[in-house]
Amino acid sequence: MITNTEIEKRGNLYPNHIVDFRQDNDKLYFTTQNGVILELTVLRDSAIRFRYATEHAFEPDFSYAISEDASKGYNELEVLDEIPEFVIITSKIKIHINKTNLKVEITDLNDLVINEDEFGFHWEENYDYGGNIVKMTKVTQSAESFYGMGDKASHTNLKGKRINNWVTDSYAYGKDQEPLYKSIPFYVGLHSDAAYGIFFDNSFSTYFDFAHERRNVTSFWADGGEMNYYFFYGPKISQVVEAYTDLTGVPELPPLWALGFHQSKWSYYPEKKVKKIASTFRELKIPCDAIYLDIDYMEGFRCFTWNNRRFPNPKKMVDDLYEDGFKTVTMIDPGIKIDRDYWVYKQAMDNGYFCRRADGPHFKGKVWPGECKFPDFTNPEVREWWAGLYKEMIAEVGVHGVWNDMNEPAIMEVPTKTANLDVRHDYDGHPCSHRKAHNIYGMQMVRATFEGIKKYTFPKRPFVLTRAGYSGTQRYCATWTGDNVATWEHLWIANVQMQRMCMSGYSFVGSDIGGFAEQPNGELFARWIQLGVFHPFCRVHSSGDHGEQEPWSFGDEVTDITRKFIELRYQLLPYLYTMFYKYVKEGVPMLQSLVYYDQEDTQTHFRTDEFLFGEQILVCPVQEANAKGRRMYIPKGKWYNYWTEEVVDGGIEKWVSADIDKIPLFIKAGAIIPKYPIQQYVGEKEIRELKLDVYYKEGVETSTVYEDQQEGYDYKKGRFSLRKFRQRGKENELIMQQFKDGSYITTYETFKLQFHGLPFKIENIEVDNEMVDLKSINFDGGNSIEVSKDFTELHIFGQ
Ligand code: GLC
Repeated sequence: MITNTEIEKRGNLYPNHIVDFRQDNDKLYFTTQNGVILELTVLRDSAIRFRYATEHAFEPDFSYAISEDASKGYNELEVLDEIPEFVIITSKIKIHINKTNLKVEITDLNDLVINEDEFGFHWEENYDYGGNIVKMTKVTQSAESFYGMGDKASHTNLKGKRINNWVTDSYAYGKDQEPLYKSIPFYVGLHSDAAYGIFFDNSFSTYFDFAHERRNVTSFWADGGEMNYYFFYGPKISQVVEAYTDLTGVPELPPLWALGFHQSKWSYYPEKKVKKIASTFRELKIPCDAIYLDIDYMEGFRCFTWNNRRFPNPKKMVDDLYEDGFKTVTMIDPGIKIDRDYWVYKQAMDNGYFCRRADGPHFKGKVWPGECKFPDFTNPEVREWWAGLYKEMIAEVGVHGVWNDMNEPAIMEVPTKTANLDVRHDYDGHPCSHRKAHNIYGMQMVRATFEGIKKYTFPKRPFVLTRAGYSGTQRYCATWTGDNVATWEHLWIANVQMQRMCMSGYSFVGSDIGGFAEQPNGELFARWIQLGVFHPFCRVHSSGDHGEQEPWSFGDEVTDITRKFIELRYQLLPYLYTMFYKYVKEGVPMLQSLVYYDQEDTQTHFRTDEFLFGEQILVCPVQEANAKGRRMYIPKGKWYNYWTEEVVDGGIEKWVSADIDKIPLFIKAGAIIPKYPIQQYVGEKEIRELKLDVYYKEGVETSTVYEDQQEGYDYKKGRFSLRKFRQRGKENELIMQQFKDGSYITTYETFKLQFHGLPFKIENIEVDNEMVDLKSINFDGGNSIEVSKDFTELHIFGQ
């Protein structure tokens, strides 16, 4: 990988003094004597875009990352023209632009330096390809930490690391291996209890150096394109992540079944085998919602075909599986087999949809079917065609979801593992080479897939999964972390990857539970399932080369443990769905690293293992063999051990017991956790009662429960049910208030409230200002009652 020092030696060019300043509403232009223009856009009071041109000219402004729904508008913008700098002031920050060298310094309103240029913007002419290698160096502040950056298999805190974003098929990758399957050039910096974020929106190969090469310097650069980055000020990490997520977008709500458990393998075939796997789930009463067909369902790996010997009647199979609650998900890869008798190939040839090399011939590469050609998904016409190809599979056969794989694109038998760099792309009317389009190729493929699945699944909701991705891909689909390995180290990696992805705006994410390559032993599988049920996307997948990896493949004890944890996930579905709702609505990541949860507590800055599932459940996986528990850090506040109900005062590291059938799991005091009954699949049972686990706290805590039809788009017309609960605990009393929004009528009439940790014995209950007869609410003399779902205020009195 190219290093900072190397590129600097090659001769850098730097901006010199500012000779011109111009303001055009929210855009400020600073031009230097040697032809550099800084275009500074004030997007929001704490979100600023910095864009640099050399030679007095910008290329057309175009990005695949930015969401059409991104918020805009600021409250305040003042520009001071002073000596020796310009100062731009919003209601949140001040930006100083040095007049002699264009260097930028950003402070908060109390003049605390949040982020400052070291050399700042500089560049180097790329004599091999033309254009600039664009570079930015910043000062690393004292005790600064760095988070985010997508799927990196490294410590959650990236301080001291060097990374590269070049979307790559990385079979059996290792810890700290670079690059991986995604390019998410966004990081969060934290120092002095103030967080900021930088999103370097550049689709070329990008590099980030977090105080690795020089202790006091953090830099990022790209092999081409523009120096074009967004700066977000917090001061809370949550504000930074929400601002980045707002800019790059969120998905729509998935169908609820997509949050259930999924079983996959390369490959389940023939049909009999698929049905056998499905029926075994039902026999053993292990909940499962989806079953996957990997490449072997196709005829000679030709996308959009079926192997009729293995699957003589796909529609009937998909229907039969559906009868039993299983949704079928099929794989589609980008490589189209070169075969003149194959309709997809012919259509693409006839219409000129395949990518070409610089001098004209089609680009060819080997993948599963042998030699293939590759559609140029950066061409809108190609995307529309590709979306239409799904008609038969979805609208006629009835398949429920699609996973796009190998979309980096992965090419076999070449050292670069991908397309040649001279391959041409349309890039939505901005023609370019693969150097620029590589990192967004998979994203544009899955975007087209999403459009197709959405169209043919309507009025239901689509489910799409991708392996490759760039910032913004989260708008279209879920993702998984590729070909991991069945090792304890990979369990650790899966944990940090999911937290890191969530911190990078991409929450709908999961790992191949148990590991893709190699085979886990029962203990590793059990520990991985215990973690995997707390990841937003929960799927077992394996290469199939090394044996079976179904929940029952490791003996009865592991089968029972797996069932117990998948059941827990199904009980927690309303909680998980509410997490998804908050992600979609407010950009709140579905998993929170401890530093996100409590950045003020410096103990959290270098923790990797513990995380929050949603906002009120603390999870910490056991990551080694033969463990009976582990040491972990409990963040500040009071927490209930889920298994023992013991209340722990956080802010300490402690040993927590967790034998093979448990994972350290804590519920935040004051939380109200909604639960559904155990179902074998989403929708198996009509929900007759919503269980609410109420964890007493002396003080106040609010909780939310979001529900809707679990499918379809009625929720967009207001047909949802959003309940906010406020719990206030006192010495002898607990008050619960409910605030409701939305017009969806839930199928149940009552809540079953289960109180945990009440410091008193229940004596009387008042519902909406009326004392109730305890019998009328099924009070069992213990700690649970049934009340109407419509109450607004509940008082529990005790002695
Ligand atoms: C890739 C995918 C993996 C899949 C295999 C065969 O390795 O990452 O999930 O099973 O290809 O399609």
